[in-house]
Amino acid sequence: MEENIQTTQMFVDKYVDNLASSTAIKKAALLLQHQQVVAFPTETVYGLGGNALSDEAIRKIFTAKGRPADNPLIVHITDEAQLDELVDEVPPSARVLLDAFWPGPLTVTLPVQKHVSSFVTAGLSTIGVRMPRHPVAKAVIAEAGLPIAAPSANRSGRPSPTTAAHVATDLQGKIAGIVDGGPTGIGLESTVLHCEHQQVTILRPGGITRQAIQEVVDLPVIDGFTSLDVQTPQAPGMKYRHYAPQAVLYLVEGSLSHIQQHITARQETGEKVGMLATEESKDRYDADVVLSTGSRSDLLTISRQLYSTLRRFDDTNVTEIYSEVFPEDGIGAAIMNRLRKSAGGRRLQLSDR
Ligand code: TXA
Ligand code: MG
Repeated sequence: MEENIQTTQMFVDKYVDNLASSTAIKKAALLLQHQQVVAFPTETVYGLGGNALSDEAIRKIFTAKGRPADNPLIVHITDEAQLDELVDEVPPSARVLLDAFWPGPLTVTLPVQKHVSSFVTAGLSTIGVRMPRHPVAKAVIAEAGLPIAAPSANRSGRPSPTTAAHVATDLQGKIAGIVDGGPTGIGLESTVLHCEHQQVTILRPGGITRQAIQEVVDLPVIDGFTSLDVQTPQAPGMKYRHYAPQAVLYLVEGSLSHIQQHITARQETGEKVGMLATEESKDRYDADVVLSTGSRSDLLTISRQLYSTLRRFDDTNVTEIYSEVFPEDGIGAAIMNRLRKSAGGRRLQLSDR
């Protein structure tokens, strides 16, 4: 049985001059120092923080999320000096990237020091480290004075939370607190990079694009996520999914009229159909629920709104959702990576036979 605990909501205005003196930040820091777990906003998504040096706190993170123990956590810091107590070495390729993108939505995996708990790294020889730039995340971590392990603050398998309300939906009664600092900015998680002397591998595409990475490193930048990205389609509900809404999601490619024919045919079999559309297309579909995730001409807005749009379908009665696809340039790589995972590889190509 999971314990049912009191979840304290703490509000903070990220624009106040001296965040460190805010009661919410002080309270959150105190809870973290007492090995409790607390959610707070970062510039990507809300994180569920715990003292990275405490097995007790780490165990609470895994329990609250229902996260498989073999999935390692990212440790968040506010000062590069904190790297000295976590990692053995920072290769030059990583140094260049940290200088360019920290604080920001970049996680690097580096050789971990022996004393760091294998609960954090899931037994790997590397540890993922990130220095966030969101003022509330910075204030909480600095005030706690600890490296803070923080996965996204969702139940495992669900879309990551971009508001405090999303966190509460998933984790109310399972965590000590939620610091509400408003909606996050980027909306998709950080880019995770493995930095070696000869090459840089993108383990997860995210807020920092491949193009931006290639601009600062001279080494080859390899995509390390494509092979893990596409899963073979299986029966709905039989597959382990990530970032997933409750209804079954399909990615769909084809002309608007083909997609509409498919929606109508599914409705005739009794399905309640949701369509994940864009500003440009939303008025042209006739489905049970049509939600726009932003304008095609502005992929940053689509990235910011993707998870909240997926979650909005949970408040409707749709039984299946069809999503348009997006070009994979820039942040589009991260958008499509998350959509493919949400769909568990289900993809329809609709055309005339
Ligand atoms: O933007 C973000 O990164 C957010 C915010 C809260 O900072 N955090 C986040 O954490 O997305 P999480 O736990 O949901 O995702 C961490 C990802 C997982 O895919 C995990 O497998 C990978 O990073 N990861 C962590 N440490 C790793 C390591 N040492 N080697 C390879 N992958 C690692
Ligand atoms: Mg996550």
